[in-house]
Amino acid sequence: MNRQNGATGIGLLGAGVVGSQVVRVILDPDANNQLSLNGILVRDIERQRDGVPSELLSTDPEMVLSDDRNDIIIEVMGGEEPARSYMAAALSAGKHVVTANKEALAKHGDELTNLAVQNGVSLSFEASVGGGIPVLAVIQDSLTANRIESIRAIINGTTNYILSSMDESGMSFEDALSEAQELGYAEADPTADVDAHDAVYKLSILARLAFGASASPDMIHREGIRNIGAKDLRYARALGFTVKLLAIARAGPDGVRCRVHPALVPADVPMANVNGVLNAVELNGDLLGPLWLQGRGAGAGPTASAVMGDVLRIAKGMLSNGSKASERTNAPNVVDMDDLQVRYYVRLTCLDRFGVLAKIAGVFGDATISIASVLQFDADDERGLADLVIMTHPSREASMQEAASRLRQLDVVASLENLIRVEDYDTV
Ligand code: NAP
Ligand code: HSE
Repeated sequence: MNRQNGATGIGLLGAGVVGSQVVRVILDPDANNQLSLNGILVRDIERQRDGVPSELLSTDPEMVLSDDRNDIIIEVMGGEEPARSYMAAALSAGKHVVTANKEALAKHGDELTNLAVQNGVSLSFEASVGGGIPVLAVIQDSLTANRIESIRAIINGTTNYILSSMDESGMSFEDALSEAQELGYAEADPTADVDAHDAVYKLSILARLAFGASASPDMIHREGIRNIGAKDLRYARALGFTVKLLAIARAGPDGVRCRVHPALVPADVPMANVNGVLNAVELNGDLLGPLWLQGRGAGAGPTASAVMGDVLRIAKGMLSNGSKASERTNAPNVVDMDDLQVRYYVRLTCLDRFGVLAKIAGVFGDATISIASVLQFDADDERGLADLVIMTHPSREASMQEAASRLRQLDVVASLENLIRVEDYDTV
């Protein structure tokens, strides 16, 4: 560590929501944290930033990356590039890197980890998953003697807020999204959150740390929440469930399966009651059993808490060099969805007349899927249509997809509105 007058030198890439809060923590006169902030990279030097000294701002990345006084580079710019290149350059120059950037890590984690190991520095990224929840530290440190068997998590606050609002008030997805945007929880372009890219990036990072699995984002099954209707929340409730966007990674005999999709969660389990923008992570270790972590997954304070935790551990010499991402090295396969066995909720709009149920049941029977219950809701006499909700017994994913494609072609089915997997809680 190249200490300046006993202080650890810091270069900051980005001074937006998270970066500005990081500056305020570093410069807090009461903190006595022995950190010296030498330069801050931004795009727009004229922008007003509360508590950020304008004389430290620069639009030239070299002012931060090539400053010999900097021992640690904090990257809170976001996005894939140029963040990846800047982090690679910092690691190659022998500087520790702390980042909150899940996209760059999910896509380039192996490359950045190798650079950290080769250069004898650390790459730390607690803030990239679960905001302020110290989930990575728990996996890397506290549970290091455990074999992690499964992870189940709500790791996107925006979608959890939208689904909670829909459940509480019966509003549509579109109205709940608009409300989340007005409150500043959802971005103007909500794609990364509602189409579950953000949750996939976070699960990719968790899977690498917990299982040693190289689960790149394109290997993770991804479904967002755009297709969840107010009716799904209402019918799920009638059946004793709520709907959550879950990120799940589970180790099995053939490897680790990673998936992010909406799921029916029994209304009486803790995960069903994680509401609003909160995040929660449920880990299952072979020695410990289940562990539950819940907290604020985003926002300036929680995210800066995680960033600064990493920074201070490096400054105090508490982190070994290299990234612990490479420590669980048995590198299991990442398996696809075909052999997943779960129960399914299937919502159809179909003709409301004799013989319809028999035709639909025939499709399930042909696909060797056993039906557990059938409920009819909201029959529409004028249009001669009804909503049918079919719950299955545990079935193979590939069989369910085959049945779904045949159901869509049936003349008595107006539309297959939704197919949602059930997350059962007798299996952890
Ligand atoms: P933000 O408010 O958009 O801030 C980004 C900052 O980076 C801005 O200061 C911006 O400069 C600067 N920047 C971006 N691209 C740049 C470039 N090419 N060159 C120079 N400067 C550049 O983002 P944020 O919300 O703080 O998020 C930062 C990171 O933390 C992201 O990786 C995000 O995923 C992660 N994160 C955020 C939260 C949260 O609650 N916000 C939670 C967890 C993780 P200007 O200010 O001049 O535009
Ligand atoms: N957009 C993320 C969320 C926060 O809604 O949880 C940053 O990780």
